Amino acid sequence: MTIVLVGFMGAGKTTIGKRLAQVLDKPFIDLDSYIVEKDGRSIAEIFKTEGQEKFRQIEVCALKECLSQDAVLATGGGVIETPENIHMLKMNQVNIWLDTDIQELYSRITDDESRPNANGRTFLQIKELYNRRVSRYNEIAFMQVDSSRCVDDCVREIMDSLA
Ligand code: S3P
Repeated sequence: MTIVLVGFMGAGKTTIGKRLAQVLDKPFIDLDSYIVEKDGRSIAEIFKTEGQEKFRQIEVCALKECLSQDAVLATGGGVIETPENIHMLKMNQVNIWLDTDIQELYSRITDDESRPNANGRTFLQIKELYNRRVSRYNEIAFMQVDSSRCVDDCVREIMDSLA
């Protein structure tokens, strides 16, 4: 079974995913890192040289490959931008939506050059993107976790609901 973490940029998918994988004794996969390793370029470089659309195509293939793993998988915040990914994720039993308030998310991602969809954007632009995505995270999620709390609290809540 793949335990998939979804949520906006800065929600803590990688940090919480790593800890959850340790606790569950499962491998941890970060979808962006998986893409970078296979492609040989950073996410920012792929966006810059090939555009977001091409990145989304690469992301679809990577998600397909990773969803067959018995692992904890942290996805990129825009994974729900692609209908094919939403379809694949709906077939997956355990998708956990990590979420915290937009002000907190913004402070975690602002001016992060490794995040092309956050870098150089104003608070209002980020908020608009977040608002557009919320219903999609909600649509595929088995549970929503308030990730403004410490990592251990989030992992404990997830473990309780998996028990
Ligand atoms: C993106 C989020 C990123 C990464 C890419 C696009 C997005 O992942 O996949 O930069 O559109 O929200 P994180 O959520 O880990 O930052």
